[in-house]
Amino acid sequence: MKTTIISIAIEKGGVGKTTTTLNIGAGLHLLGKKVLLVDLDQQSHLSRWLEYEPDGKPAISELIYQEVSGIRSNDNSAFVRHSDREGVDFIPANKMLGGIYAILGADGQSNTVLSRIFHQEFFQQYDFILFDCPTAVDNLLVSNALLCSDKLLIPVQAEKFAYEGIPPMLQRYMAIKQTQDIAPLLAGFLVTMYNGRTTMSKDVLGALQESYGKLVFSEPVPMLQEARNSTDEDNRQCGSLVRYGSSRVGQAYLAAARELVDQEAAQ
Ligand SMILES: Nc1ncnc2c1ncn2[C@@H]1O[C@H](COP(=O)(O)OP(=O)(O)O)[C@@H](O)[C@H]1O
Ligand SMILES: [Mg+2]
Repeated sequence: MKTTIISIAIEKGGVGKTTTTLNIGAGLHLLGKKVLLVDLDQQSHLSRWLEYEPDGKPAISELIYQEVSGIRSNDNSAFVRHSDREGVDFIPANKMLGGIYAILGADGQSNTVLSRIFHQEFFQQYDFILFDCPTAVDNLLVSNALLCSDKLLIPVQAEKFAYEGIPPMLQRYMAIKQTQDIAPLLAGFLVTMYNGRTTMSKDVLGALQESYGKLVFSEPVPMLQEARNSTDEDNRQCGSLVRYGSSRVGQAYLAAARELVDQEAAQ
């Protein structure tokens, strides 16, 4: 199977991008896939949720820096960590990522840096590579991730104004991919923090399904305290929820992971 690279992105903070990256990544592992998660956010929540402690070894910013400056060695494994708990590999982010924009901007083809890195043979050992993007659209790191990706997964929080972020995200993606026919390049819209007791949640899901049909993942991710606990680093139960059959959030993410596997099988 060929490697599928997916960006998880939208220009809205706190909608569940990082929670989605972690859970879908761990879900894909449970489904037997080899997975690499890449933390592109300088807040490095994903790295921390994967129990990363700064270890003095190179992280994503060094990988980018070495590519731009032409000093990259062929040993990509130096950048990769493994999470025993989640069964996935990952490349962590650290605070240096904040300074990466000037470095990216200095590259003659500044949108292509991640493509040059992640289309190398080393990364073809993975079935899925997921980019956890920072909350931004007009951002060099995000445009790099989008250009490099086969697909874009858009988490949509089931609340008022949920729609606002979608048109600019799709426009940006179309511009970067230089195509009007963007549907084949979408993994889909995943409704997060869904509360079936509110009409607002149902309206968001219904309107999305009306606009985008099958591009909407069939199970919305419920809004539950268990999700908040799972990303609380002081909580011993921090980590993905897909590992627990009793977790409704986890089971919704596992269903989304299954849909991604089915999408790839159908292609
Ligand atoms: N399904 C959910 N139910 C309740 N809280 C959630 C859910 N998904 C995520 N959260 C919480 O929302 C906050 C923001 O999630 P996060 O994944 O960091 O969003 P983003 O990466 O888009 O900023 C976190 O505290 C997280 O625990
Ligand atoms: Mg995040």
